[in-house]
Amino acid sequence: MGDSCKKAYITTPIYYVNDVPHIGHAYTTVIADALAIYSRVSGLDTWFLTGTDEHGQKIEQAAEQRGKSPQEYADDISGKFKALWDDMGISYDQFIRTTDEAHKIGVQKAFEVMYNKGDIYKGTYKGHYCIGCETFFTDTQLIDNEFCPDCGRATTIVEEESYFFKLSKYQDKLLEWYKENEKCVLPKTKKNEVMRFVENGLDDLSITRTSFDWGVKLPANMNDSKHVIYVWLDALMNYVTALGYGTDEEKMDYWAARVHLIGKDILRFHAIFWPAFLMSLDLPLPTHIAAHGWWTRNGEKMSKSKGNVIDPKEVSDAYGVENFRYFMLREVPFGGDGDFSQKALIDRINSDLGNDFGNLLNRLIGMSGKYSDGKVTSENVSKYYQAELDEVNGYLDNLEPLLFNMQIHRYLEELWRPLSVANKSIDKYQPWVLMKENKEEEALALNGLIANILAKVAIMLHPIMPNTTKKVASALGFEINTESFNSLIKSKELLKEFIVEKIPPLFPRVEEELLKEPDSKKDEPKEQPKTKNQKPKTKETGIITIDQFFQTELKIGTIIEAQEVPKSKKLLKLQVDLGEERPRQIIAGIKEWYSPSDLVGTQACVVANLKPAKLMGMLSEGMLLAAKDDSGLSLLRPQSPKQSGTKVS
Ligand code: MSP
Repeated sequence: MGDSCKKAYITTPIYYVNDVPHIGHAYTTVIADALAIYSRVSGLDTWFLTGTDEHGQKIEQAAEQRGKSPQEYADDISGKFKALWDDMGISYDQFIRTTDEAHKIGVQKAFEVMYNKGDIYKGTYKGHYCIGCETFFTDTQLIDNEFCPDCGRATTIVEEESYFFKLSKYQDKLLEWYKENEKCVLPKTKKNEVMRFVENGLDDLSITRTSFDWGVKLPANMNDSKHVIYVWLDALMNYVTALGYGTDEEKMDYWAARVHLIGKDILRFHAIFWPAFLMSLDLPLPTHIAAHGWWTRNGEKMSKSKGNVIDPKEVSDAYGVENFRYFMLREVPFGGDGDFSQKALIDRINSDLGNDFGNLLNRLIGMSGKYSDGKVTSENVSKYYQAELDEVNGYLDNLEPLLFNMQIHRYLEELWRPLSVANKSIDKYQPWVLMKENKEEEALALNGLIANILAKVAIMLHPIMPNTTKKVASALGFEINTESFNSLIKSKELLKEFIVEKIPPLFPRVEEELLKEPDSKKDEPKEQPKTKNQKPKTKETGIITIDQFFQTELKIGTIIEAQEVPKSKKLLKLQVDLGEERPRQIIAGIKEWYSPSDLVGTQACVVANLKPAKLMGMLSEGMLLAAKDDSGLSLLRPQSPKQSGTKVS
């Protein structure tokens, strides 16, 4: 996929309806959504497919346990997936269900084409079958001769008449395909795993079942009604039946540019079976099959029995759906496993989103309000800040390949560099000083620089946070669409003059965990009973844990104003910039050692999350760190200037 190609086809796996949606499903879908939005904004004709996988023994059993017909049950859970994606603002173009009539016709057509080609034959299958995974395993794959190597559940021996797909016939062709298409499976480590598996030899694949009914029947002209088609052949075909394969093939053009997003557990099905089926059908092979890692919660595997499964709706409702989207994509390197903890999510919201991004907009609103009644112009930006613009444009140029090579966390990491340029520029050029020195043109151009950086970042962040970035764009007087993408990103143009709209802070600080944690200690060995006066061990020894230490938020602050407090021998009143919307007022007992003029423009280390207190009737919103011995008191400062608000750890 790239500039040369006018279409983009992006898919998620179709989700089994034997379970309600959780963070793993949300993760795949959000990545796919981000790619789809980016493709649309960058001008590609995009089709984004998701849906539900509704056939198979697993679903039949789940329905039975609930006293429902498989169809009723599938309707119910499929609806839950659809509702979740709608709630999460997922911009899918099509929601396919494997119980859709057109899909079933397409699957039967594929069976027929493969059969007529001589790729399907009838035989008998005897093997260990895992119902949970809908997969047969060979003796050597089983754990302790009985248990499923994927999910650990007991397998059952199944012997039945079956149709087979000649997978072995495609072994060499598959290896050739992997070798010739560097990025057909991403990340590379996963591709190597697949290649090793195929090199060890492929057995033919049983592709029908007679032991249950809930599935697509063989084509009527085969007169073999006791067989239903194996769920994985049925499910994988969704990627082409959605485009009309076997029925109305009008949308098949999208098949020209295809990216399948999946989790690592279903890689073999996608990277081995699927391309082999496509080869048999004489259809082009996928462009990218991208496999992501697994999510755990607070370091533990999620499971219904532990009650620690993360409900994406609950997290979205509590923390904001777009904050959650950002967190998932930023927190984990694609392909690696990720851990969900509220602490990590809160940290991303307060730090990356609040401090680095939201506050920058607030600072622009504040400064432009003060210096130019909200008017912001790009005039003179190049005159004074060309170096900063060049640096920012350089970062932006490198982003697109990161996205399509599935290095999404790196994409976001790199996207934060322009924000850092903007925040640093404010500290470096100090517009309030420029204004005092009558360098108004420079100060206003700096506002222009900040606005342009915010605008460009908003466009590139749009795929991950679509609504938030729309609000930013609207505050900056433009809309995010292909036109603005082309002018501000591709052609590196600057914003037209606008009056900045004063919008409320986009990322209000989250002070505490908003969701109750499940009692995950349930399975752990019981603690020794505590006696009434027993103190926690950490208090007895004076030792604290790293988590306790990190409860204190230490930051670098720039002192922008300092005054004596009348009638006080000890106190100075300071205004300290912590990179937030407005400076903090800090009343510090340091007058014996520092005069106000010593302090303005210098930096110090600030305890930023102290409860505000009043000293001599004045509000103090933090504390400066200092060391005092017989020779006097010194403030603790960074060795070289740091951006205001930089975390100390
Ligand atoms: N129905 C098949 C896919 C057929 S596609 C032709 C299926 N469905 S699933 O509902 O079980 O899983 C769908 C996706 O969710 C997979 O990509 C899987 O990797 C992902 N996840 C399920 N649990 C997960 C985590 N705990 N963490 C991350 N993703 C995981 O497989």
